[in-house]
Amino acid sequence: MNQISIKYQRPLRGEFTPPPDKSISHRAVILSSLSEGTSIIKNFLQAEDPMRTLEAFRQMGIDIERYPRENRIIVNGKGLKGLKEPKDTIDCGNSGTTMRLLSGVLAGQQFSTTLTGDLSLKSRPMQRIITPLTEMGAVIASDRGGYPPLSIRGGKLKPISYISPAASAQVKSAILLAGLYCNGVSAVIEPVKSRDHTERMLKAAGADININGPEVSINGRDALTPLDITIPGDFSSAAFFIVAGILIPGSQILIKNTGINSTRTGLIDILRIMGADIRLENKREASGEPVADIYVRHSRLTGIEIGGDMVLMAIDEFPILCVAASKAYGTTKITGAKELRVKESDRIASMAKELRKMGVSVEELSTKGGSASGGEDGLIIEGKERIKAATIQSYGDHRIAMAMLIAGLLSEGETTVEDTACINTSFPAFTKILDRLQDS
Ligand code: S3P
Repeated sequence: MNQISIKYQRPLRGEFTPPPDKSISHRAVILSSLSEGTSIIKNFLQAEDPMRTLEAFRQMGIDIERYPRENRIIVNGKGLKGLKEPKDTIDCGNSGTTMRLLSGVLAGQQFSTTLTGDLSLKSRPMQRIITPLTEMGAVIASDRGGYPPLSIRGGKLKPISYISPAASAQVKSAILLAGLYCNGVSAVIEPVKSRDHTERMLKAAGADININGPEVSINGRDALTPLDITIPGDFSSAAFFIVAGILIPGSQILIKNTGINSTRTGLIDILRIMGADIRLENKREASGEPVADIYVRHSRLTGIEIGGDMVLMAIDEFPILCVAASKAYGTTKITGAKELRVKESDRIASMAKELRKMGVSVEELSTKGGSASGGEDGLIIEGKERIKAATIQSYGDHRIAMAMLIAGLLSEGETTVEDTACINTSFPAFTKILDRLQDS
């Protein structure tokens, strides 16, 4: 059983660069494979999730050279119509982004493909992409009622104007990618603008794309131009160290070269309201994305109420935000977080259960009844000066595993987090960096 035991040693000090952005790495493989010619992708995330996307395109005949030591890949794109039918089912592993974005591309192909995944991915809802892609003309079969595996038969697509019921970058991206194969303009209108990496990269690849707040439209086209990009560090990976640096007395960390796209950095806004000292230094733009160095040091936090757009902008940071709330003074209430029930695990239930093992008082809010009848999904967490060590489950969810390891650092005694291999989906060097910052 893969597990990690952790206990407090010293404050975290020093600087590091987080791993390359996972969301952007997926998109870089997809768009460069569909472009005509050779793309150079520097600082590509060689973790399990984006490698699933990379292997999927290799299965469809794209030649991708890897230079693992330099985190560089060279993709010899074959154009929008250059993919060939894969011989086998494509295994998306744990990666929802691979499955949902790939579905958008496959909707426009003249062949059939089956997509599958691991147990966690097989329990994640796919109706959200099946509905719009079917409306565009793809034929998508799911024997398990909207859950993977999916069999996708592409075809001639027609443009749609889709009002997305939820803000979801994966749904938006699937439609925009399918929109490349349409004659005419496809549009996606979200209730709130979700992360916009696809739009930025499509623009860089010469797509005819228009952005008007939460509405994005794309005109179908014949060709995309190759990319030469450097992917920034992943804010969602930096987040674990932002919170650790704030919570552990005496800590001071400079997190270099990190993406600060405003659709992703809600955690900074939330922590600042809670009282954190976080500074963004050396702000710049790299390959169409805003980037900065993030300086954090120990600060005292106070509980707050968090809901609405703020939750969306910090959607992947919920587990580590719950750890911050556990050590804040007073009560933190997070609502409007229903989407978290269908991530790599049910992150609301996972965090409630595991934090309780450490002696934290947590109330789970559920729209399906339970303690908050009529309330919105989320958590109420009472901050505590001291949390106790425990044996923790990760539910095979990388962000739960990493958040609870940081909680373990803050606990009294030695905490063990079980089933930690999942950390490799996004941040293989997590413990190495943690050790290094404790030794500085
Ligand atoms: C992602 C979008 C988000 C996010 C996920 C990665 C992406 O999901 O939670 O980790 O790369 O597009 P949704 O689009 O389902 O909200």
